[in-house]
Amino acid sequence: MKIAVLPGDGIGPEIVAQAAKVLEALRSDGLKIELEYAHLGGAGYDAAGDPFPAATEKLALAADAVLLGAVGGYQYDTLPRPMRPEQGLLRIRNGLGLFANLRPAMVYPELVNASSLKPELVSGLDIMILRELTGDIYFGQPRGIRTLPNGERQGFDTMLYSESEIRRVAHVGFRIAMKRNKKLCSVDKANVLDTSMFWREIVTEVAKEYPTVALSHMYVDNAAMQLVRAPKQFDVILTGNIFGDILSDEASMLTGSIGMLPSASLDANNKGLYEPCHGSAPDIAGKDIANPLATILSLAMMMRYTFAREDIAQRIETAVRKTLQRGLRTADIAEAGMQKIGTAAMGDAVVKALS
Ligand code: IPM
Ligand code: MG
Repeated sequence: MKIAVLPGDGIGPEIVAQAAKVLEALRSDGLKIELEYAHLGGAGYDAAGDPFPAATEKLALAADAVLLGAVGGYQYDTLPRPMRPEQGLLRIRNGLGLFANLRPAMVYPELVNASSLKPELVSGLDIMILRELTGDIYFGQPRGIRTLPNGERQGFDTMLYSESEIRRVAHVGFRIAMKRNKKLCSVDKANVLDTSMFWREIVTEVAKEYPTVALSHMYVDNAAMQLVRAPKQFDVILTGNIFGDILSDEASMLTGSIGMLPSASLDANNKGLYEPCHGSAPDIAGKDIANPLATILSLAMMMRYTFAREDIAQRIETAVRKTLQRGLRTADIAEAGMQKIGTAAMGDAVVKALS
């Protein structure tokens, strides 16, 4: 298992260090794991003047899987756009062809009270959001800021999806649904956007190859509302890049803390980049209070999807559950009166629970 490790910025290095402890423990159990480190985001800009340095690209292309912390920091906010940390993230997604972004939103029984929704609405919640990750208005050309003949300036972007892009991510969605509760809800804005009308047409066509999956369609505004009204109605949500960006943040809060949610971004051969759903949280960086569990759970996804080691995936997930059952909490998931532990202590506790 050749894993490229990109700690990134903010809390990235601290949380990735905890995941690395887990990998070390697995290695001493006999798994053949090789880790190589490189810079991404602001760290890339600082080290090489580029948020996605050539050395990082080379390492990521050669690896079987990539583990990423997070990117972004206040000190980079005033850089010209191509130099900003987020561009490093968009370029690595695009450069590795990682079009299928899996963002599970599940509620651990131990954390049901951490949700901002009533426990009965979220208890047992288990949704998989599949976000298309390399198309849509994120990458569509033309885009820019132009001056019209009348002298007024105008900003513009282009939303577009080609048939092959929709087809391949739809297939991933149906295959995931087949392994779950066989319900797929495709989210779009087909009442207004041509891109969405086309999306709906192609998804409906692909659905014919999966007759046992119940396909439904929902407008994105309604989906945003349904996610907080009755989130358990969903099994797999399939959607485009921009809608998926927004809905996955919303869904993450149903679970209590974005600090618990892992993600996988896969290419056509299950090579993947694994990262927590949360950002770099520069305000708490270096304080040993960030929650490393989303990053550790991202490793579990790596074992499941890239290395087809469901056994190890479950071992990691069970270790996280055991740690929560022991009552150990970082600040973001602690209920009043509970003892809080730091980032490193949480990493150590998961390692201990592994054996
Ligand atoms: C995410 C983030 C990124 C995105 C940003 C940091 C570019 O919000 O991974 O959801 O918009 O995709
Ligand atoms: Mg986002």
